[in-house]
Amino acid sequence: MSETLEWSDLAGWYDAKQGDDGDLWHRELIDPGLLSVLGEVRGLDLLDLACGNGYLARRLARRGARVVGVDSSAPIVALAEARERREPLGIRYHVSDAGSIPQLVDGSLDAVYSNMALMDMPDLVGPFREVARVLRPGGRFVASICHPCFDVPGAGSWLWERKEFVTTVSRRVGKYRVPFETATPWIVPDHAPFSTRSYHRPLSGYVRELARAGLAVTAMEEPDGSETFRAASPQGEGIHEVPLHLVFEARKLLAPHP
Ligand SMILES: C[S@@+](CC[C@H](N)C(=O)[O-])C[C@H]1O[C@@H](n2cnc3c(N)ncnc32)[C@H](O)[C@@H]1O
Repeated sequence: MSETLEWSDLAGWYDAKQGDDGDLWHRELIDPGLLSVLGEVRGLDLLDLACGNGYLARRLARRGARVVGVDSSAPIVALAEARERREPLGIRYHVSDAGSIPQLVDGSLDAVYSNMALMDMPDLVGPFREVARVLRPGGRFVASICHPCFDVPGAGSWLWERKEFVTTVSRRVGKYRVPFETATPWIVPDHAPFSTRSYHRPLSGYVRELARAGLAVTAMEEPDGSETFRAASPQGEGIHEVPLHLVFEARKLLAPHP
């Protein structure tokens, strides 16, 4: 069993891993899906929820968005701020839990995005309520997550089968229906294996909590890696068959959901 570490313990490693462009998985697989759903951002007010080292906030600020970043880890936010000091792009950062962001004013943002972080939150009621509060009516929430149907940490694995000279890949998944706390393993060169805490919930759980917060799902994408990703990642061909990530867009309803 690997050690479970907090994001604050991993701040330096995570900052170096994502750098200024995102690592291979983000750059060539996840981010293109999230950015295509987010669309044109020039002139928009955006929140990067659980922003990590802010590399994506920086990419979007360079495209002309006004971005604010929020993350609950003070050491990670300090590293994001250090990047901002080195190359100012006008990004403001706050240390706050996603479930309570008092620094942000009601109805002040065009879009909130969250990249690969909602699975780390034990409860989505507060975070989704905050997303709905800070969005303008009709504003959009775009998030990438581990695909709840195909990537259940601790209860999912690849099956590679070779029959009559043909290799097929599929996914075995269990423990889907009931939410549970689990651990996401990280394999890092020159480091003992470790995990971060994460929370599986079925797809219907996400949609139900979004609706309760007054957010209606309007788009979904299941990112497929680029040629570069497929060539570089041992999981690339598998992900081409069965997606491990999901990007959704939800819009703030003009009137509360009944
Ligand atoms: C996998 S990292 C993703 C960071 C960044 N979005 C990216 O794509 O590189 C997860 C981040 O979520 C943050 N986080 C976890 N739980 C949080 C919460 N309840 N509120 C705010 N941030 C949280 C962690 O501190 C960490 O920076």
